[in-house]
Amino acid sequence: MGRIALVTGGTRGIGRAVSLALRDAGYTVVANYAGNDEAANSFKDETGIPVYKCDVGDFDTVGAMVAKIKEDLGAVEVLVNNAGITRDKPLHKMDKNDWDAVINTNLSSLFNLSRNVIDDMRAAGFGRIISISSVNGQKGQFGQTNYAASKAGDIGFTKALALETASKGITVNAITPGYIGTEMVRAVPKEVLDAKILPLVPVGRLGEPEEIARCVVFLASDDAGFITGSTISANGGLYMA
Ligand code: CAA
Repeated sequence: MGRIALVTGGTRGIGRAVSLALRDAGYTVVANYAGNDEAANSFKDETGIPVYKCDVGDFDTVGAMVAKIKEDLGAVEVLVNNAGITRDKPLHKMDKNDWDAVINTNLSSLFNLSRNVIDDMRAAGFGRIISISSVNGQKGQFGQTNYAASKAGDIGFTKALALETASKGITVNAITPGYIGTEMVRAVPKEVLDAKILPLVPVGRLGEPEEIARCVVFLASDDAGFITGSTISANGGLYMA
């Protein structure tokens, strides 16, 4: 049995591509999802990858999920923090719920997940924690004070935890995707995408979820053991950090 990899938000969008790529690379993959039972069940039927429902923003529920995965399969060895949401609005229209929902799902989730797997990784002397941040956490974006703050926070979390775990065989890295052809990006008004975003992407197209998944597979591999605390940009040249 391959190493156990947990992908949050692993049944749709980038997460789906990550789950499939890790499975194809020989990992024993489990996919977390938040609420879309229909999408999760069809993903499970189609791929054979088990799915675990829980809100990654809730520490206790995450703890129960990680314990169940351990009971069913074993300790998580590769954690991919992918689950993320947007609530795009300029700050003058944003309410507290828009802020809290995005910070909890996109940033507090890294604590909730990592804290619940770190003891087993330390005991095993091996682990991979890979978080999907965003180009917009590096450069900012109109309408995304909440999202940009959460994704910038993911990068700081990654660097701090990488320092703590470097001597324990655990690497911690972030990937910062640009605009990838998923439902999240398709929700951006077409006129905004066409006029204000795509012209800024030198490669001239949206990215493919599989292009992010291949970065994850590399960072998860033994070959990437010397890479920790890094942020890998995959944004078509939109922003060069
Ligand atoms: N840059 C500069 N100005 C912008 C702008 C931008 N990107 N977007 C809108 N504006 C301007 C509009 O042209 C308009 O100008 P005027 O008032 O002069 O006409 C004004 O801002 C609109 O301001 P409002 O306060 O009325 O804004 P709104 O309520 O219409 O909200 C928005 C606009 C919902 C934020 C919309 O602009 C939007 O969806 N923008 C896209 C945000 C984005 O890129 N989200 C990324 C989602 S995908 C993702 O997050 C994945 C990832 O990691 C990359």
